[in-house]
Amino acid sequence: MAVVPYKDASDSKKNQVAQMFNSIAGKYDFLNHFLSAGVDIYWRKKAIALLQKSKPKQILDIATGTGDLAIEALKVDPDKVTGVDISEGMLAVGREKMQKKGLSNKIELLSGDSENLQFEANSFDAITCAFGVRNFENLEKGLSEMNRVLKPGGRVVILEFSKPTAFPMKQAYNFYFKNILPVFGKMISKDQSAYTYLPESVQAFPDGRSFLGILDKVGFKQTQWQSLTFGICSIYTAIK
Ligand SMILES: C[S@@+](CC[C@H](N)C(=O)[O-])C[C@H]1O[C@@H](n2cnc3c(N)ncnc32)[C@H](O)[C@@H]1O
Repeated sequence: MAVVPYKDASDSKKNQVAQMFNSIAGKYDFLNHFLSAGVDIYWRKKAIALLQKSKPKQILDIATGTGDLAIEALKVDPDKVTGVDISEGMLAVGREKMQKKGLSNKIELLSGDSENLQFEANSFDAITCAFGVRNFENLEKGLSEMNRVLKPGGRVVILEFSKPTAFPMKQAYNFYFKNILPVFGKMISKDQSAYTYLPESVQAFPDGRSFLGILDKVGFKQTQWQSLTFGICSIYTAIK
């Protein structure tokens, strides 16, 4: 059974995920930094640093949300970053942010589904995705689509939450994720489910080696994984 945000709803996971992010979009950036004590900023920096050597000119940021990873991607001096997302609410917050920062000429945010991308094969030098893949309805389809639109030799960098395994971080993390984060998340976002869906979806996600196995299966090469901050988060990289 797929983990979905609204358990009593009959809608697909994709529609529920879009609805949930539409509902929390206005508070998303604040909650991200608040609930992670700002560590998410460091994780995005680490992910983009992995693109520094290959100097990609066309970057696609999948599940871009409000565009923070797309902004970080400008550090590698691309010609353009294209972000896609299924949540119009998140994109609207992102577009306003780009406008305020004067980045609309460098970063384009488009409505688009990672599982059915609107781009031709071999279009991008690099693909990035932060905290998106866990939300896909069909993970393999989403990763295959990334592979299709990436140029041969191009690199994909994926950031996602993972489950710490060592004592005492595992216990501390479980307590925080299950008892503290949902309370503050609900209070601030006013969404009943978003911050219970977060720990549940992390729990159900095939992290670490299992995720590398799926990247291999859909055709990526040189799949690698590094764990960050006691295993709370992981960066996965691969080449087409
Ligand atoms: C946790 S947010 C991450 C946003 C951003 N990447 C960041 O680092 O802050 C997850 C995003 O994935 C998007 N998403 C989920 N499934 C998607 C899909 N199939 N196609 C495109 N975006 C998707 C959601 O709408 C949401 O904006």
